[in-house]
Amino acid sequence: MKSKLGVNIDHVATLRNARGENHPVLLKAAEEVIKYGADSITIHVREDQRHVNKKDALLLKKKIKKPINLEMAPTNNMVNFALKLKPKFVCIVPEKRKEVTTEGGLNLSHKNLKILINKLKKNNIEVSLFINPSTKDVINSHKLGANAIEIHTGSFANAIKTKNKNKIILEFNKIKKCKLECDKTKMKFNLGHGLDYKSTMYLNKIKNINEYNIGHFIIGESLFDGFPKVIKKFKRLLS
Ligand code: PXP
Repeated sequence: MKSKLGVNIDHVATLRNARGENHPVLLKAAEEVIKYGADSITIHVREDQRHVNKKDALLLKKKIKKPINLEMAPTNNMVNFALKLKPKFVCIVPEKRKEVTTEGGLNLSHKNLKILINKLKKNNIEVSLFINPSTKDVINSHKLGANAIEIHTGSFANAIKTKNKNKIILEFNKIKKCKLECDKTKMKFNLGHGLDYKSTMYLNKIKNINEYNIGHFIIGESLFDGFPKVIKKFKRLLS
């Protein structure tokens, strides 16, 4: 199975918001990454809407043909927004107001999680849970009724960046074990956070990953090489 590539375009919105105007245009970025091979567009609408805002999300949903993967906190406010937006996928992520990026996986004992998941699923939205690389969390995600899980690859990606061999093997094995546990269920298996060419290539040793969600590196690297080269290179790595 060929893995899909979801491109997270939050950082385009961050750059746009730095000037409070409309450049670079978020819709154009989505259209470009799709043109060069992205299989879906990921956006994290944070409660404070600090990068992609609700208006952006509604416009993207109206204009683009590929699926939208909405990352959001498990709150009633965000669930109500998701029901209005009706993206193909929702990925529930933990959210701390002051964090720079999503620092870890979800706490699955979060109250109301099951109710929120059911509400989304009843409205034909596939629900993924962003979890730490723990087999216990894979099992609990299944119990909660998730359609998919996305493993937080941050620790693995950092181990690759710092070339810490023992840590690379340790973190890789954790992710591999989660895949084996996930294979006992019908849940899709996705990966994301902190990934670049090297870490993606290494993780691709694990067969049948449904989707990789990559943001910061793709947007940053595209400043030097452009979307066509960067996206096509990821697509090649995943083929
Ligand atoms: N997947 C999830 C669930 C995320 O929260 C993020 C960061 O917003 C990403 C993937 C993308 O991470 P990065 O920008 O580090 O590639």
